[in-house]
Amino acid sequence: MSEVSITPLVDGPLEVSGACRVNASDGTEIRSADKVYLCRCGASEKKPFCDGSHKKIGFVSNVEA
Ligand code: FES
Repeated sequence: MSEVSITPLVDGPLEVSGACRVNASDGTEIRSADKVYLCRCGASEKKPFCDGSHKKIGFVSNVEA
């Protein structure tokens, strides 16, 4: 059985580690990988994935990782 962990990175994305599949709202698979970074700042041009925009906007998280 594979295990997936989700870690909020300080002032950055959610790091998802472990074999996982990200699906669109219609259920279509958009990525399958062992590690993905999901945007939580809202500024990414490649949502739901992080594209580094959190650095440009100075995103500050409220959750300590
Ligand atoms: S968290 Fe990186 S672009 Fe939003």
